[in-house]
Amino acid sequence: GSRELTALHCLAGTKESAFVYAVTAAGLVHAVTRSCSAGNVTECSCDTKLQGGGSASEGWHWGGCSDDIHYGMSFSRSFLDVPIRNASGKSGNGLLAMNLHNNEAGRQAVAKLMSVDCRCHGVSGSCAVKTCWKTMSSFEKIGRFLKDKYENSIQISDKLKRKLRRKEKSQRKIPIQKEDLLYVNKSPNYCVEDQKLGIPGTQGRECNRTSDGPDGCNLLCCGRGYNTHVVRHVERCECKFIWCCYVRCRRCETMTDVHTCK
Ligand SMILES: *[C@@H]1O[C@H](CO)[C@@H](O)[C@H](O)[C@H]1NC(C)=O
Ligand SMILES: *[C@@H]1O[C@H](CO)[C@@H](O)[C@H](O)[C@H]1NC(C)=O
Ligand SMILES: *[C@@H]1O[C@H](CO)[C@@H](O)[C@H](O)[C@H]1NC(C)=O
Repeated sequence: GSRELTALHCLAGTKESAFVYAVTAAGLVHAVTRSCSAGNVTECSCDTKLQGGGSASEGWHWGGCSDDIHYGMSFSRSFLDVPIRNASGKSGNGLLAMNLHNNEAGRQAVAKLMSVDCRCHGVSGSCAVKTCWKTMSSFEKIGRFLKDKYENSIQISDKLKRKLRRKEKSQRKIPIQKEDLLYVNKSPNYCVEDQKLGIPGTQGRECNRTSDGPDGCNLLCCGRGYNTHVVRHVERCECKFIWCCYVRCRRCETMTDVHTCK
């Protein structure tokens, strides 16, 4: 609805939006490449260029199905970037250039985290012959990498030009890497509800009293403190199979503390 649209507009150019662009572009590369390797797409397949290669002296050769990300990369570019380029027109809107950069950062993460898996063959796993293939990392690992990039994202100058540059003047000499996530606008305060921006705030959120992470009461409740309620769970327990044929259980009660942000 229009509320989501306003929210999207207001959050434009923040780190959170940078992460969403990157993770979406990476996800598309990942999913398309998986389909290529599964033989589900006519335009692409496993990486055939590697077949037959390897190193006989080191005792391994390429085999199996190596993930070929090229088709997925170009699919992600034409699906996600072309509409942005079209919208930006000749004037070269800087915010759009930044979104393009963040899309590419996501794709580069998939490429960077490619790895090689091998399997041994030979008498009782002696590894006399090894077959190796290239494989993408799990999307979970790619997500963690991008989360790290999000936490270290770079604020760029809001005098957006075609060439993106850091806001911090003293750091302008440090080049911006392809994998860096970029933002212009500071994030709004996610702690307090803001209906106009579509931010629910953290009041009433369940938190973990002993965690130092983002789910911990300290961080999640933004220093407002938390309420503790005791919640009673009733479940079936100590179930026994009785011959023949039914199961008899007891009812067990457990009490757990649940903490919610003030
Ligand atoms: C490939 O296609 C089959 C059959 O439609 C489907 O079950 C499978 O999930 C697909 N695999 C991938 C990785 O897309
Ligand atoms: C982009 O613009 C070109 C030329 O105006 C047009 O042919 C093409 O269909 C547009 N592509 C998208 C995805 O909007
Ligand atoms: C709370 O955090 C601690 C420490 O990180 C963790 O060991 C525990 O499993 C968490 N509890 C819940 C309910 O998530």
